[in-house]
Amino acid sequence: GCFSCKTTATDDFSIDSEIAYCRSQAMRTLVSIPSLDKIPNSMDLDSIKWRYTQVGSWTCGFWPGILWYLYEDTKDNMWREAAGKVTDMIAPLAYRKAKSHDSGFIMMCSLGNGYRLTGKPEYKEGLLHAADSLAMLYNPVVGTILSWPGMVKKENWPHNTIIDNMMNLELLFWAARNGGGQYLYDIACKHAETTMKHQFRKDYSCYHVAVYDTLDGHFIKGVTHQGLSDDSMWARGQAWAIYGYTMVYRETHDVRFLDFARKVSDVYLSRIPEDMIPYWDFNDPSIPDVPRDASAACVVASALLELSGYLPAEKALEYKQAAVKMLASLSSDKYQCGKSKPAFLLHSTGHLPAGSEIDASIIYADYYYMEALLRLKRLTENKPVIDE
Ligand code: GLY
Repeated sequence: GCFSCKTTATDDFSIDSEIAYCRSQAMRTLVSIPSLDKIPNSMDLDSIKWRYTQVGSWTCGFWPGILWYLYEDTKDNMWREAAGKVTDMIAPLAYRKAKSHDSGFIMMCSLGNGYRLTGKPEYKEGLLHAADSLAMLYNPVVGTILSWPGMVKKENWPHNTIIDNMMNLELLFWAARNGGGQYLYDIACKHAETTMKHQFRKDYSCYHVAVYDTLDGHFIKGVTHQGLSDDSMWARGQAWAIYGYTMVYRETHDVRFLDFARKVSDVYLSRIPEDMIPYWDFNDPSIPDVPRDASAACVVASALLELSGYLPAEKALEYKQAAVKMLASLSSDKYQCGKSKPAFLLHSTGHLPAGSEIDASIIYADYYYMEALLRLKRLTENKPVIDE
């Protein structure tokens, strides 16, 4: 197809060879990890070894998610077995009280992909429990989920909702469609509406954190936790918004969300650097001498491939071409690890203000990179980006 031709003079980008690259890197990781409870998480720029995370951390679902995607692409049971083993370690979390909004990321990447590909009833049970548990964090007075219970006292944020939380609505929508209560759908919709109303500035860039009053539900302020400043556009936060509203439109078919997904995408696209990979925060005054966040580019590339499927031809083409350029750039020597180490990508930034995971390889970049490549492959085969 035309996507396997050169997209720029320097980038020789072919979907099949980038997917093959991911497969061989994942194999290197798989054979290097000492035991399956060691879940690959991140790798500093000057390191060749994974730092691991444990079952329960917000990122623990991404590695099994990558293994599921490799199984989906290859139908090779070797990947299915590895994915299943890690997912089975995560499954008991579904029966615990949700500690934060992150149970959506954890469950959908692991059990969600696992159920989609195997139909294993235990995964469905777990997902339904996890959705009910996540819904316990919903505050009907505010109309959003409390993202970080731990920050209520620590930061004096009575009710806080972070933009990342948009991603976790997917678990609620999924559960409502698969035997869970209608109330899960209603909560997800209301969360998306309330967030749309309060968590964005006039230019459609978002605040990382929206703080609300618990008694009358009013919006108190927009602030940051992982970004540069309260008024800046933190790259991954905007990426979560783009992906989140695209997904909410998929689930609701409500055109207000489609229109909003376009607006939050357009401000991002109008401000990214030429190589299509954002700096960690769009407002850092030291750009270009600051770290990138490749993970944001991966999330956005995957989202734009989906969003393009919901739009008239001209806009669809614009988003698809932007996504392909992002993937071509991510697939260049500048961003791929190559032989030097087993992660897929370099140059992501986790939490710069906390001094953590700066200019590193991070597992969720790899997950969304893989997802975006598989979506692009489906598009070139004239299949819908996502199965109905
Ligand atoms: N959800 C946490 C992050 O994006 O860093």
